Amino acid sequence: MRRPYFDNGLVTVISRLVAFTIFAKVKAVSRVFRQKTTSLSPRLESMSNSEILQAAVKNPEWWRTAVIYQIYPRSFSDSNGDGMGDLRGVASRLDSLVKLGVDAIWFSPFFKSPQKDAGYDVSDYCDVDPLFGTLADWDDLVVKSNAAGIRLIVDLVPNHTSDQHEWFQKALAAPAGSPERAMYIFKDGKGANGELPPNNWQSVFGGNAWTRLEEADGTAGQWYLHLFDSTQPDLNWENPKVADEMDNVLRFWLDRGAAGFRIDVAHGMKKREGLPDVAVQSSTMSGDVQAEMSIEQLEAHVPYWGQNEVHDIIRRWRRVVDEYEDRAMCAEAWIMPLNRMARWVRPDEYHQTFNFGYLECPWEKTSLVKVVTDSLKIFGSVGAPSTWVLSNHDVIRHVSRFGILGTPPQGDGIGPNSEQPDEAIGLRKGRAATAFMLGLPGGAYLYQGEELGLPEHTTLEGKYRQDPTYFRTKGERVGRDGCRVPLPWDSKGGESLGFSENGESWLPQPSSYKRYARDLQEGQAGSTLELYKRLLNERKAFGMGAGEFRWAPEFDGESTLSYLNNGVLVISNFNGEPVALPAGELLVTTQHDLSIEGVLEHDQTAWIKI
Ligand code: NOJ
Repeated sequence: MRRPYFDNGLVTVISRLVAFTIFAKVKAVSRVFRQKTTSLSPRLESMSNSEILQAAVKNPEWWRTAVIYQIYPRSFSDSNGDGMGDLRGVASRLDSLVKLGVDAIWFSPFFKSPQKDAGYDVSDYCDVDPLFGTLADWDDLVVKSNAAGIRLIVDLVPNHTSDQHEWFQKALAAPAGSPERAMYIFKDGKGANGELPPNNWQSVFGGNAWTRLEEADGTAGQWYLHLFDSTQPDLNWENPKVADEMDNVLRFWLDRGAAGFRIDVAHGMKKREGLPDVAVQSSTMSGDVQAEMSIEQLEAHVPYWGQNEVHDIIRRWRRVVDEYEDRAMCAEAWIMPLNRMARWVRPDEYHQTFNFGYLECPWEKTSLVKVVTDSLKIFGSVGAPSTWVLSNHDVIRHVSRFGILGTPPQGDGIGPNSEQPDEAIGLRKGRAATAFMLGLPGGAYLYQGEELGLPEHTTLEGKYRQDPTYFRTKGERVGRDGCRVPLPWDSKGGESLGFSENGESWLPQPSSYKRYARDLQEGQAGSTLELYKRLLNERKAFGMGAGEFRWAPEFDGESTLSYLNNGVLVISNFNGEPVALPAGELLVTTQHDLSIEGVLEHDQTAWIKI
């Protein structure tokens, strides 16, 4: 039965009451926590991360305010010289994340996988791919990171598996209509001989979303659905066995110390009954939706994203996660607009969701006012914190996005033939945007390397590319490899700049990465690394993750935007002339030139204790 969310008055009243009670409770707890942390140490400078975590135990809903650092395992740090980052590499660099001051790590998938989509094609949900190490390495990392006060979040990929997963292999070996095939979405084709795909759906990576099988006897057979690559068949969530299996996966990682899950394609899974044609083709994960469409219209518009029945799956997972203490889920739900996205984080669903509206917002005053106001209000209305994010492994790194005039669409990347970003402008705006973001209340997500100000690799040659988007569109969309390049740790660390000891690296780094290497930034006043450390430190010290936020127009001129959070004024200057900084203690500034005192130049942000 399809139920529009707002048609049942009683459900609405009850869920709002529950949301309000939880919200009020959390506010009270966070007030106490704030008082405790500020009275313990106004700047927390003398506290270690694990001491801060001990204090945070008083606030069980840590995820509401956490700064979560995304590790893309293959590109973080390589411990065995095969050019591929791994779990031991992470363990060996944990110290750098403690110094940075993050609360948790979200790992992109490190499970067994043929790596056709960099691990988002899972062939065994409950084992570590040998490329990244072993389950023992994971266990070791849990112990080490928890001791350092850092929680670990794993990536759950429930919409599809790899075609090498034993469930799919068994389905291939079994006849049409068998229970094995019922784990996936197999259909007969249209046309006299079934030669046409069952409908007109397109893959997010380009091309048809259906692939036809060749049966064991060599004849052409059924088609199977893959919203992504043909090596990533979609699971059939109409089959209760799929849900049971996924519960086991959740429990496996929760039992093994995971603090929660980032849920991949969190608005996928359920497809509209009858698999109707899509009205307007779109290769994005949000579909080509219009803000004025009703929820029913939106669901009909893209029959595979954001279907109402997905909420039953989310609630089921929430019950599993709630059996454990202190765990959380964050949804990768490309659901627009925000009021629709908020339905994914009602009190019995995901704990939080990536705020892609914020990620897509330009560095521009009016748009920022709107997205921040809407986010706080709309997520707040269901008792959820907003999250804030600027970069991840699927989008162009934000310093490069802000360095070009037009922003290329989701997942398209920047190639040698595209307009090239202005590196200096991009870095300046990117730092200012980060400082603006990290002062906001709620959870914040950082993507590995942004703390170094790393730009996108925009001139990567086709011969190195690995993203299936590049191949499925015959190079028309260059894809996401440019934001996934291995990190530069050491400017004198050989060919891969300290990423691996012998200089190996699965993607080549651009020559500019030497200038951004961590060793050159560590301890250097004004460096991007020191800026991030300072921002995270002050954010904790002033309890800004759970702070009292308000816009502060009394400090604004035409080109500036200001807000107050727990007594800290965050002020950004977007363009034009330098402006005088308001009086108060300057806590942080993004000005590269620290000799410039008392003013804020264009595309800079400062934090001032008023
Ligand atoms: C979203 C992930 O972030 C992306 O990297 C992946 O390719 C798709 N989901 C498919 O799993």
